[in-house]
Amino acid sequence: MKQPIKGFSKLSKEGKIEWLVNEHFENPEEARELLKEYWHSNEKRQQLHDDFIENTMTNYFLPFGVAPNFLINNQLYTLPMTIEESSVVAAASKAAGFWLKRGGFKTEIISTTKVGHVHFNYAGSFETLSTLFEDWKPKFYEETEELTANMRARGGGILSIALVNKTDVLENYYQIEARFETCDSMGANFINSCLEQFAQVMRADIELRTDLSAEDRDLQVVMCILSNYTPECVVRAEVSCKVEELNDDKDVSPEEFASKFQRAVRIAEVEPYRATTHNKGIMNGIDAVVIATGNDFRAIEAASHTYASRNGQYSSLTHCKVENGVFTFWIEIPLALGTVGGLTKLHPMVKLAHEMLGDPNSETLMGIVAASGLAQNFAALRALVTTGIQKGHMKMHLFNILNQLEATPEERDAIVKHFTDKVPHHNLVVSKFCELRGIPVPKSGVNKDK
Ligand code: HMG
Repeated sequence: MKQPIKGFSKLSKEGKIEWLVNEHFENPEEARELLKEYWHSNEKRQQLHDDFIENTMTNYFLPFGVAPNFLINNQLYTLPMTIEESSVVAAASKAAGFWLKRGGFKTEIISTTKVGHVHFNYAGSFETLSTLFEDWKPKFYEETEELTANMRARGGGILSIALVNKTDVLENYYQIEARFETCDSMGANFINSCLEQFAQVMRADIELRTDLSAEDRDLQVVMCILSNYTPECVVRAEVSCKVEELNDDKDVSPEEFASKFQRAVRIAEVEPYRATTHNKGIMNGIDAVVIATGNDFRAIEAASHTYASRNGQYSSLTHCKVENGVFTFWIEIPLALGTVGGLTKLHPMVKLAHEMLGDPNSETLMGIVAASGLAQNFAALRALVTTGIQKGHMKMHLFNILNQLEATPEERDAIVKHFTDKVPHHNLVVSKFCELRGIPVPKSGVNKDK
């Protein structure tokens, strides 16, 4: 039975690796070699990566691809995309190329406000609390002046502070809800620092209120934290063209395509099973650019899915209409992104991604990321309502299957050629590979994946 370890974090990197490989691997030499094989050859770069997180052993590579031809608000972009899934970059590129000839993507920032809360318990009367809050409010601003000075100089800062009574959902539960403008930063540290200062003001003040009854002084701050749900930090991206300009696919008329496409979006609007997959496809594009540009994709994912449920049922993040012969397809999504702070100036590949995009500010990046999600969804739906998803996806996935099979370069060439006009389903590729090698097809096949 494995034993827990105390003080692991205090071991040197070598010490951690030794413990890990000896504790968890049948062949420690092989595991050690692999971990070290993925170290960066440049020590300074490796140190940088070691310091991003804790207990770093090695690096974990994800491909960094690019999708060219994104015309967004009449500017041409090449999007950086960091993702492991085949066909996503190709799909984004194909959709970008399609819309390039039809006016491109138009984006609009709806708002950029972020929110944070001091969550607290209060046993006294709401009336007393409201009076206390009126006293605290100017102090919240005064006592965060130093913290907010730079943000205010950039045009941001605290936008509003309100007391929220949540006792209808939880006994004695109240919030100080503050709204912030954090300009080009994602703002988590700024917001959390302000909130913690508010809590200090509350605690200090309540201590001094000896004039109040014990109940009216009974206040406990539970926590101070920003919310990753940002329904007031929202961007819209849109594509549109005349229906007759819609499809260059000869098998389906533009009218039939528009109708099936619109229906597919409608299904995602009303059916959570489909909405989840539909939005997953959108997040293929969103996450890839968010990761490449050094932003927090967990926060973006969490906000998107809450937003997708804001009307009481999980629904599509994209929408489509056909009016007066014009097809319009759009996304509205909360994207609290930063172009300063965090990894943006630290990770060399993130810096490169930002430079590739012309060092956008956060609002421009919001538009770019939204366009990437919309493009991805367009490509997936286009495939789904015409050829089916497997044809294109498996074409892109073929190399992963060939890598699993450890095909030689000659075998790869022969198999790629063979599947030029056929869908390379996993079992068909395995059969072809076995035929080329003159070996029997294994009963269990090779590990199947998507
Ligand atoms: P195609 O028409 O066979 O490709 O499409 P093509 O060879 O004719 O090339 C057309 C363009 O596609 C190229 O233009 C590229 O822009 C791009 P060009 O560069 O030649 O001027 N393209 C590529 N880009 C980079 N590398 C490549 C490459 N090949 C084509 N190797 C394609 C093939 C896969 C693009 C198309 O079938 C497609 O868009 N399919 C959709 C794929 C998709 O959505 N994948 C996401 C993963 S599946 C999923 O997880 C989501 C899903 O469940 C979501 C949902 O249900 O809504 C589907």
